[in-house]
Amino acid sequence: MQTPLIDPFARAISYLRVSVTDRCDFRCAYCMTEHMTFLPKAELLTLEELDRLCSAFVGMGVQKLRITGGEPLVRKGIMTFFEAMARHLQTGALKELTLTTNGSQLRKYAAELAACGVKRINVSLDTLDPAKFAEITRWGRLPQVLDGIEAAKAAGMQVKINAVALKGFNESELFSLADWCAREGHDLTFIEVMPMGEMGDVGRLDQYWPLKDLRATLATRFTLLDLPDSTGGPARYVRLAETGQRIGFITPLTHNFCESCNRVRLTCTGELYMCLGQEDMADLRAPLRASAQNIDLQTAIRAAIARKPKGHDFDYSRQAIKGQMSRHMSHTGG
Ligand code: GTP
Ligand code: 5AD
Ligand code: SF4
Repeated sequence: MQTPLIDPFARAISYLRVSVTDRCDFRCAYCMTEHMTFLPKAELLTLEELDRLCSAFVGMGVQKLRITGGEPLVRKGIMTFFEAMARHLQTGALKELTLTTNGSQLRKYAAELAACGVKRINVSLDTLDPAKFAEITRWGRLPQVLDGIEAAKAAGMQVKINAVALKGFNESELFSLADWCAREGHDLTFIEVMPMGEMGDVGRLDQYWPLKDLRATLATRFTLLDLPDSTGGPARYVRLAETGQRIGFITPLTHNFCESCNRVRLTCTGELYMCLGQEDMADLRAPLRASAQNIDLQTAIRAAIARKPKGHDFDYSRQAIKGQMSRHMSHTGG
């Protein structure tokens, strides 16, 4: 075990998010344009290369690995990668192996994921109305996702539902989403929409539903008790006194959580993004391919962490978008 990764603001980097593909079988309106150009397959790191990279990070103190995309479960052969990462759980070097998914392939993979030691998964689901689901995901079908979630639960995995708070879209479903999650035993987290990538004629400001407003609406029916809980991610949690249910809020716009950031993001081509909300990145593919030894790679990782920025510059407060990124969320996996 080597010296842990510490950034210039004394934050220990113990959480790696890995986007294993930029492709997705959905086209969520706030995430992608309808006609996306995806990377040519030849550009992708192989699963063996992703293994070597992730293992290098684990050797440098990363304890939590989240697999994302695009949709991670559409990458061919992805289960061999999960199986490979499971060895780090077995040695105890890795504390958590998990994924963020749209749920479409969970029926097929839930049992295998659970067998690899995945205990908790995050599923993106913004609405329980089949017509609205088809509208927001463009290509998705709600019954398939609900069936996938069912399969995950049956396989013994804890499910967290991630809902992007969208003005005029799921505002009316706040209570029905919360009630459904309470009944099904899922955690629920709401996310403020972030300015990731150009969206054509979809106006981010029109979509934006600040979570302080959502919270106020929730408080008209429930007593919200602030919790000190952390899952190692940016969400802050409350418990609803009446039902005991836990609800999380991810508030990059109304409350910045960057001071406690513990994570970096790796893309499927080996780019390391030190912040979701900044353009700077480090190429790890070149040092990875230059040598079968990890020395150059480790040096490149340390050099990248040494320039991790303080935080994002997302801001909508003057009725204008500040801090917009050129890349879409599917590039870095959220
Ligand atoms: P857990 O706490 O382990 O459940 O994970 P998480 O909330 O970190 O992961 P998840 O994939 O569920 O992320 C939910 C949303 O939070 C995604 O839309 C991410 O983009 C957003 N998010 C996660 N980390 C950051 C971050 O460092 N900065 C910003 N601005 N958003 C983040
Ligand atoms: N702002 C906030 N969340 C987003 N996601 C995708 N695009 C955006 C955006 N622009 C969410 C997805 C998924 C997670 C990985 O990121 O819904 O839950
Ligand atoms: Fe796919 Fe997730 Fe983006 Fe939706 S949010 S298009 S499911 S990557």
